[in-house]
Parts: sequence; C-alpha cells; structure tokens
Amino acid sequence: MIKKCLFPAAGYGTRFLPATKAVPKEMLPILTKPLLQYGVEEALAAGMSTMAIVTGRGKRSIEDHFDNAFELESQLAGTSKEHYLEEIKTVIESATFTYVRQRQMLGLGHAILTGEPLIGNEPFAVILADDLCTNGNTSVLSQMTEVFNKYQCSIIAIEEIPMDQTNKYGVIAGNLVDETDDTYRVTDMVEKPEPKDAPTNMAIIGRYILTPDIFDILRNTKPGKGGEIQITDALLAQAKQGKVIAYKFKGKRFDCGSIEGYVAATNYFAKQQGIV
Ligand code: UTP
Repeated sequence: MIKKCLFPAAGYGTRFLPATKAVPKEMLPILTKPLLQYGVEEALAAGMSTMAIVTGRGKRSIEDHFDNAFELESQLAGTSKEHYLEEIKTVIESATFTYVRQRQMLGLGHAILTGEPLIGNEPFAVILADDLCTNGNTSVLSQMTEVFNKYQCSIIAIEEIPMDQTNKYGVIAGNLVDETDDTYRVTDMVEKPEPKDAPTNMAIIGRYILTPDIFDILRNTKPGKGGEIQITDALLAQAKQGKVIAYKFKGKRFDCGSIEGYVAATNYFAKQQGIV
C-alpha cells in the first residue's frame, strides 16, 4: 500500500514568466483550480493520504492553499457563496500535508532527494503537477499502484510521443513484459536525446512510483544533462538491475509546463464542464 505522494514543486517555471515571478507555476489554475490541487486529488483517488511537497523560495502560497483560511471562511459562512470553498476544504480534510524546502534548484533528482525526510524508507509516488493527467474512471496514479502491486519495483508512466519531440523528455528502451497491461521492463533511458539518438519514442511523463533505494542512488548521482541531478540517471541504475517497469498509461496528459499544453488543458476542461 503506497501512502505518500511527493510533489516536486520548487522549479522556477521560467517558461511561464512573468506569471511565475511571484506565483508558483504549480499554483497556476486550469479554470478555477490550481495545477497542484489536480495532482493532490489524483493522489487521494489512488488511496494516498500524505502529500509531501518540495517547495522553495517564493512558494508560500502553496502552504496557504492547503490550510484553513479563517477570515475567508467566516466571511462566506451562511452566504450563497459558501459552496465555492467546499471542494478545497474536502481536499484539506482528506490528507496530511508536509513540506520541505529545496534551497538550490539542482534538478528533479535533487528535488526528490530533498523530499527523503518526508518519505522515509517506503515506496512512494511522485507527481509533477505541471503534467496534468485525466482519465474518466481510474486515475493514472491508481493504474500505476496496481502495476506496482504486481511487480513490486519502481514504475514509470510513459507515453508515445512524436519522434521530433524526444529532446523534451526522458526516453526509454525496454522489453514488453505483458501486452495485456502495457508494461515494459526498462533496459535503457536517455535524458532529452536528439531524435537521431533516441532509442524509441516512448517518453517518461510526470508520474512515478519509486522504491526507497532510489535515495541512496540519487545521493551518489553526479549532475548530468544541464548540470542538474537527473532522476533518469538514478532510474537507469535501478533499471540495470531489472527493477524498473514502464507502464503505458490510459488517459490524457497535458504538458501544462508549456503554453500550448496549458491552453489545451484549459480548453479541454472548459468543454468537459460545458463552459464553451
Ligand atoms: P521543469 O523541468 O518543468 O522545470 O521541472 P521548471 O523550473 O518547473 O520549469 P521551466 O523549465 O523553468 O519552465 C519539472 C518539475 O520538477 C520540479 C518543478 O517544480 C516541476 O514540478 N523541480 C525542478 C524542482 O522541484 N526542483 C528543481 O530543481 C527542478
């Protein structure tokens, strides 16, 4: 049973400047809901109850969002607007929120290692909230916990992408394990390869289930591409021991860290809710 979900949310979000100068990227809304809340709801739906959030300087609004807001609550109590707060109140009451700050933004791998004190020695999930996933019945993380229960090793979600976009993703190579559940045993992994160097078009997206030995591996992982400590480099060490399964998830993913993906997600959810 996986109880904790880690949310690396310390990045600068430079692609969304100037919006992200004083507002964390993870707090940008799709319609009325911040990206991070979508992620927390996905983790809740997968049965997780501790949300471990890696924040950084200028990210205090994340903590405020997942806390009571007495003044607002008392202002709205008994009025026709009270229902606007209901959804977030349910989320707050359903989980425990823990935080740690990443002092230097040294990459996703480093952000995950920074979260170690919040996780301890147990398998845990990771959600990158700017990859917004949606699937009617079973959330992507719920699908992944089922795969974890079967294989008991690290699980990464993958998606087939156009070959000319491999330089935006971690890309895997692997052997099909079971076509009924779309799983591959990972044999290789490359961070943001140019199309000519990419082993496949199967890209890692922002959903992981990791076994806690990843922390020791990360501690010994040297900065890789872009001078950052890459989670792909640490996962490759696990993969070499045959301990990483890639899972082609069911559902839709929007890369809300890019403007195109953000607009596409907004349009999708607006249509879903009958707004446009
Ligand atoms: P991105 O690669 O999207 O980086 O990080 P970013 O800084 O958020 O955005 P750009 O590229 O500058 O526009 C993927 C995820 O990893 C987190 C980010 O917050 C995001 O959720 N991250 C990245 C950290 O928490 N710490 C880091 O040092 C780097």
